[in-house]
Amino acid sequence: MKKEQTDFLVIGSGLAGLAFALEASKHGKVVVLTKAGVQDSNTSWAQGGIAAAVGESDDWRLHEEDTLIAGAGLCDPDAVRMLVQNAPQAIEWLAKLGARFDLGASNELDLGREGGHSRNRIVHHADKTGWEVERAVSAAVRANPNIVVYQFCFVTDLLMSGGRCVGATGTIPDVGQVMFTARATMVATGGVGKVYDSTTNPRVATGDGVALAQKVGANIANMEFQQFHPTTLHHPQLSGFLITEAMRGAGATLRNHNGRRFMFDYDSRLELAPRDVVARSIAREMQKLETWCVYLDPTHLPSELLQEEFPTIWKRLSEIGLLIDRDWIPVVPAQHYSCGGVVTDLNGRTNVPGLYASGEVSCTGVHGANRLASNSLLEAIVFSFKAAEVVQAEPTEVPEVQEPKSPTCLPENEAILLRHALQKLMSAQAGIFRTTAGLQEASDKIASALTQYDTQATAGFSAYSAETRNLLINAQLIVNGALARTENVGLHYNADLDK
Ligand code: SIN
Repeated sequence: MKKEQTDFLVIGSGLAGLAFALEASKHGKVVVLTKAGVQDSNTSWAQGGIAAAVGESDDWRLHEEDTLIAGAGLCDPDAVRMLVQNAPQAIEWLAKLGARFDLGASNELDLGREGGHSRNRIVHHADKTGWEVERAVSAAVRANPNIVVYQFCFVTDLLMSGGRCVGATGTIPDVGQVMFTARATMVATGGVGKVYDSTTNPRVATGDGVALAQKVGANIANMEFQQFHPTTLHHPQLSGFLITEAMRGAGATLRNHNGRRFMFDYDSRLELAPRDVVARSIAREMQKLETWCVYLDPTHLPSELLQEEFPTIWKRLSEIGLLIDRDWIPVVPAQHYSCGGVVTDLNGRTNVPGLYASGEVSCTGVHGANRLASNSLLEAIVFSFKAAEVVQAEPTEVPEVQEPKSPTCLPENEAILLRHALQKLMSAQAGIFRTTAGLQEASDKIASALTQYDTQATAGFSAYSAETRNLLINAQLIVNGALARTENVGLHYNADLDK
């Protein structure tokens, strides 16, 4: 088997992985493995922006308070404080790398508003902030001689020696299996959206990092806190297309099938209540009126503002015949962000020596039971920076490791059926509204699907099948986490606990 040694290994090429790679490259050689192209990540799809208390009337204490309120009492206050205090430096770092952010009339940052924020504090690049950030960061990575990127390299296992993580094995088309050994390994594989049949996440969001880390004994927590974005497009061709919360921040309102602004019935913060509240209110309204969507109404906003602030949405919707200065947008909630994941300390370290995690795959304590809008790109930078500081202290000698076994996979035609059945099951039983019986049914079905996978797997590698197994592991963690929660909090709502 081919072998390569490096100082620091990164799995994933979203903002968390690349921020870590850039900082760690100051202390040694870095290899980045990504299962698709570099820019195929959740980061690239982020519309809203990055929260930072940089406005005149703002203060990190207010950002801290808003984050804690959204997290419904389950945030780690130290992690939150570290996050919000480091936000202005994170923005500066991105700007120095060449990321362009929208400016106001006097060249100050133009700050948007999103749900749960008590001030305008969203630094953004129109409605494609993630794309702009990923562009700037990946350009810096390409220009860095200390970083090597392997694209289309699917990681099948983490390598362990004497209880330490010492790298990973990846499979590269036309090359085969490669063992990458390293002093430290950073898992930054992003989200798990493909566990559900409707998600804002890209195709690559299959929870690979959570499954890899769990297999080597890393602690995983809070997977039951799956955030559903309240407003994604309801349309057969563009299902899951995000309509950024910034549009509600700019004044767009939610209406039901009768045209009524129904958020008055649910929360005094109306359309800008935290996401869990708005998504649940929409789902209830749809149940009540027996309708398949609600509507986002931006039609009272100036046409120029809509075109300027939301050019991506304007263009995509006009392609399907919706003119957002005239038409209400049909919207439904869809899975958007995993607030749980691989547990880390404030330096991105997991409980497995040598193994780090950052970004959506991690559970740093910042989000608690519900993430505040636009805290995710920020978390990725702040925790990756901390990890890159401490990673230098990892032992310089990497021990010899045994070659791993060749992977076995379920035939793809079987994996397709398993994956689709899983997505339907999870959407029905582990979505916004849950019941104990539904969760138990899901848990049993997932356990038997995993047994089926493992008993029918044959020699040979298929990335699709390997992802499907990872999805099953993530689904099991979500469902079992939900069954273990004895109170309704944040994003977790079990109707039986209300009785
Ligand atoms: C959005 O633009 O609404 C998404 C931003 C986020 O998830 O933080």
